[in-house]
Amino acid sequence: MNVDELKDAARAAQAQAYAPYSHFHVGCALEGASGTLYRGCNVENASYGLTNCAERVAVGAAVVAGERAFRRIVLVTDAALPASPCGACREVLAEFAPDLEVISVAAGGAETHWQLEQLLPHRFELPSPGSRA
Ligand code: THU
Repeated sequence: MNVDELKDAARAAQAQAYAPYSHFHVGCALEGASGTLYRGCNVENASYGLTNCAERVAVGAAVVAGERAFRRIVLVTDAALPASPCGACREVLAEFAPDLEVISVAAGGAETHWQLEQLLPHRFELPSPGSRA
């Protein structure tokens, strides 16, 4: 899949964002190792802490479809500069795809590319049972 298709899918997802509180609409397209694409948008809640970010919505959609390995994620926002995924989403993405490529596109089309490892070095990994107290 080419990156323009991922950007288009992320923009389509952004149009579905439910963000009546922050008014910050986020869309993403997550490319599975199979080539299948999974979309996500943020889903806010009146109890703000229950908000789901676009990235975690996409991971959930992929996992329920049976896909657990990913190549790339494209994130689209209306911010002036490319937004990077929040810390919680970095951990959730790294659970399945520590080598993920992350591409973020800003309102004017400016984009930044990262490797997830750059954004989240030393991710949390549950110690094996033998090494737990
Ligand atoms: N948000 C995302 O969807 N992804 C991120 O990585 C950061 C933040 C959403 C959550 C909330 O709906 C809005 O952006 C403002 O924080």
